[in-house]
Amino acid sequence: MGTGQRLVGVGVGPGDPELVTVKAVRRMREADVVVVPVMADDEPGRAEATVRAHVDAERIERAVFALNDRGGRSERRIRAWDEAARTVLRHFEAGADSVAFATIGDPNVYSTFTYLAQTVREAAPDTEVETVPGVTAMQDLAARSGRVLAEGTEPLTLLPVTGGLGRLRSALDSDATVVAYKFGRFASRVADAVHESGRDPDAVYGARLGLADEEIAPLAKLDGAALPYLSTLIAPARREGPRGGKL
Ligand SMILES: C[S@@+](CC[C@H](N)C(=O)[O-])C[C@H]1O[C@@H](n2cnc3c(N)ncnc32)[C@H](O)[C@@H]1O
Repeated sequence: MGTGQRLVGVGVGPGDPELVTVKAVRRMREADVVVVPVMADDEPGRAEATVRAHVDAERIERAVFALNDRGGRSERRIRAWDEAARTVLRHFEAGADSVAFATIGDPNVYSTFTYLAQTVREAAPDTEVETVPGVTAMQDLAARSGRVLAEGTEPLTLLPVTGGLGRLRSALDSDATVVAYKFGRFASRVADAVHESGRDPDAVYGARLGLADEEIAPLAKLDGAALPYLSTLIAPARREGPRGGKL
């Protein structure tokens, strides 16, 4: 393999095909192939529908990923990273100069792209790796629900609830706006924690943002049922003072 091969992680936003940057579209169209992560070969992925709105179908290739595997650094996940890396490397061996890998949201925020890029670099150290930023789910939910993510000196804490409810509770006790990812199956326990913190009047969740069956609602609407994997929570910081009081 020669040098000059480029792997581009492209953020394609949370689901709405209009939330894709001009640069993301250009880099995907310029690439020899656009690889999209899917759960199974015969099932369209979350990024794929967005990519299809901008790129010809014949240049899209699916790579099976254990996207919501609960097993941590599981064998299944490692096999999936290796297999997806082989897909990318096969394209380079066949003469591709640029392979794009589409990822929901941003490629540098809890993305499978990180592990794919590490695996490709190990096998082909000359590969240039680049990323194109994308709109994250938290930004889409903030915009759609009218919740301000941060103002003045407020911190903004983004955490995956798979890292433990204790961490979520500590964040809720702080002065930060708290955004939670990966909490669908713990939704009712998350709702309890937000309630205990007194932040429930302003807290909101968005499930499957940008997809056909999306739902955006105040957290108080949760009835104890689980939410889908694609669910995001915003619990805004308390803002009782005057306008600009946190500056
Ligand atoms: C592996 S992370 C990917 C994050 C993504 N790279 C980003 O920048 O937003 C998956 C988590 O992102 C959030 N998420 C991504 N897309 C979403 C969507 N369309 N609707 C709601 N939440 C979403 C959910 O919390 C989900 O569990």
